[in-house]
Amino acid sequence: MPDTLPLSQLYERVRPVVPPVEWPAFADDIAAIRALKRERDAVILAHNYQTPEIFHCVANITGDSLALAREAAKTDARVIVLAGVHFMAETSKLLNPDKTVLVPDLRAGCSLAESITAADVRLLRRRYPGVPVVSYVNTSAAVKAESDICCTSGNAKRIVESLGVPRVIMLPDEYLAQNVAAETAVEIVAWHGRCEVHERFSAAEVRTLRAEHPGLVVLAHPECPPDVVAAADFAGSTAAMSDYVARRHPARVVLLTECSMSDNVALAHPEVAFVRPCNLCPHMKRITLANIRQALETMTHAVTIDPSIADPARRAVERMLAV
Ligand code: 13P
Ligand code: SF4
Repeated sequence: MPDTLPLSQLYERVRPVVPPVEWPAFADDIAAIRALKRERDAVILAHNYQTPEIFHCVANITGDSLALAREAAKTDARVIVLAGVHFMAETSKLLNPDKTVLVPDLRAGCSLAESITAADVRLLRRRYPGVPVVSYVNTSAAVKAESDICCTSGNAKRIVESLGVPRVIMLPDEYLAQNVAAETAVEIVAWHGRCEVHERFSAAEVRTLRAEHPGLVVLAHPECPPDVVAAADFAGSTAAMSDYVARRHPARVVLLTECSMSDNVALAHPEVAFVRPCNLCPHMKRITLANIRQALETMTHAVTIDPSIADPARRAVERMLAV
């Protein structure tokens, strides 16, 4: 647990990516955050895309969207700080209606969550009567409330097949939907949302990387375009990519996803060489040690969800967790 390590030992965890000149400022925030966590009875849930000083130094729980949702459902703490984007904080709040869930910067959005509204889902239902709606967790609570069930990149195929129907609507990520469709007999009706981070990778880039780095192992997130996933050696959620590195110890690897992911996995696996074309998620990068500290000091910004939305949205998330 990062909370019990002396600060000097904590620095050893991140030394390769945090220059010594930056550490004193981080150490000051980390010490304050530790004290505030005790005072407020708070835990910090951090997504795999958070920067190493958050991921390795103050997070109590780290993981992909699915793991964060599962852990949020289990915590006994009174306060949850979600170091990630807004939809992740909403998911935590849905599963913990009586706890305070804080998001350190309200502007930490997501291009996928922005790509669809509840009215769009109602329109899709009218266009495809009787076809169940599977919503990626990267959606607002209002969209989840219009959905039958949620999914994440870690369980999308399983969730789609769990419904036992020949056709589903899967929204809002066009590429995730196409990547799942390539692996299942279930017909998928997709929406046209895209992740602004993953849509920028190309199959040509993968070919160039392979030519430049013989023996390179290419791991891709399923939000990448289908030709990128086809050109990769493995595709999976951020947790699945991390597990792949831990299990297989490839000599040289590239993670086609957000940049901090490589930093965090590389720190845990100094034996693996990481090739680094990556793309930054500007929304994830809005979260900093300074605003986590401020969130705990001021108890802002507390996530609230209208009960008329929260109840059906919670059902869609809980149905996913039960599969
Ligand atoms: P994971 O569920 O794989 O962590 O993905 C979340 C996300 O936002 C990827 O861009
Ligand atoms: Fe959304 Fe893409 Fe950022 Fe993930 S990486 S939070 S899907 S914009």
